[in-house]
Amino acid sequence: MIKKMIKQWFHDRFDVEGLKKPLEKQLTKPLPQHISWFHTLGSMSLFLFVSQVLTGMLLLFYYRPTVDEAFESVKYIMTVANKGWLYRQIHAWGANLMIAIVFLHMLRTFVTGSFKRPRELTWVVGVLLFIMTCIFGFTGYLLPWNQLAYWATTVGTEVAGAVPFIGEFTKTMLRGGSSVGGETLSRFFVCHVILLPWALFFLILFHLFLVRYQGMSTMEAVGEEKEDKDPKEAVPFFPDHVLKEGVVWFFMMGLLVTLSVLSPFDLGEKADPLSTPHAIKPEWYFLPLYHVLKYFPKLVGIFVVSLAPAFLILWPFFDRSKERHPLKRPISITIGILVILSLLFFGILGYVSESKQTIFGKVYEFDIYGIPHQVLNHPSS
Ligand code: HEM
Repeated sequence: MIKKMIKQWFHDRFDVEGLKKPLEKQLTKPLPQHISWFHTLGSMSLFLFVSQVLTGMLLLFYYRPTVDEAFESVKYIMTVANKGWLYRQIHAWGANLMIAIVFLHMLRTFVTGSFKRPRELTWVVGVLLFIMTCIFGFTGYLLPWNQLAYWATTVGTEVAGAVPFIGEFTKTMLRGGSSVGGETLSRFFVCHVILLPWALFFLILFHLFLVRYQGMSTMEAVGEEKEDKDPKEAVPFFPDHVLKEGVVWFFMMGLLVTLSVLSPFDLGEKADPLSTPHAIKPEWYFLPLYHVLKYFPKLVGIFVVSLAPAFLILWPFFDRSKERHPLKRPISITIGILVILSLLFFGILGYVSESKQTIFGKVYEFDIYGIPHQVLNHPSS
């Protein structure tokens, strides 16, 4: 009865039938047959974005972005606030997972040649989303105002300062002064909780609009994609694909809680600008590029590293072959594999550099470039 009255109320005021049609069209849109679990990585990224916004809002009830209170407020969230520890851990794990999942989604669209004509713009917007997700991580890392964060930000902004012509200006803009301090914290806070979330929100909307408007790519070569898919060959968006997405959303939720409980992030010690810790390193996702910078004179290094994002954005305009199937694109797939191997190689070198590791019972000291030197006469050697 009430349901009928509500329905009538809306029918009297809006053209409900007219509004239903485009919605139904979107829901029943057929997807290509090769759609697999890999095609849920995009919606997994979306899930993580929503989770970050929600947990971020909960953290904001208690977080205070000042040098005197930031560290203490995060400590309060972790020890006193109701379920605060869980929200902080889900937020921290969510940030790391989001970078990994967005990267894997990018890899999927690379392997299936989805970035090719007519979807070049979807790729370009995607790369901007990836870069912004990394900046999200960089700005959020400073907010707890602990030693690691303080020094990683000092080093990170120093790297920005070495860029020719605009470097000094960028560094001062980021820091809000000559060194990392209260001004930097305010700036990073505004970027992290206002500018980036809104920018990402509108970019994601545009990205999804493009995906829906142009339809998902098939494995056919450019220009040979069939406009009207045979209903017998297509997969309906609803309920088939939506169900798959629901499954991965639940899986992601479970993973976030499990990681938060079993492997929580430490808060560490409060930032102390007067005591520089040994071996400052950025977060794992910046580690490969940061390590590459060590091998080159500063200016050349920055040039090499800033070429990487430019190359990524422009990739659809370099790889102009018509084939989408990975087996028919040996050159671009080989380039992709080499890039992934180099990221892993430099990432691992960056991770072990300036540390002591025991390998097969022998102790090695890795220097700043990641070269191992055996420690003789070590008690465990
Ligand atoms: C916050 C980040 C992102 C979100 C929320 C997102 C979301 C999505 C969703 C839901 C889809 C459709 C389903 C799927 O293919 O998984 C999609 C498709 C696509 N995305 Fe993303 N995406 C993001 C980042 C990226 C990045 C970094 C790239 C590449 C640089 C990218 C390139 C593409 C392309 C080319 C398609 C079309 C795929 C096809 O037609 O087969 N996206 N995205």
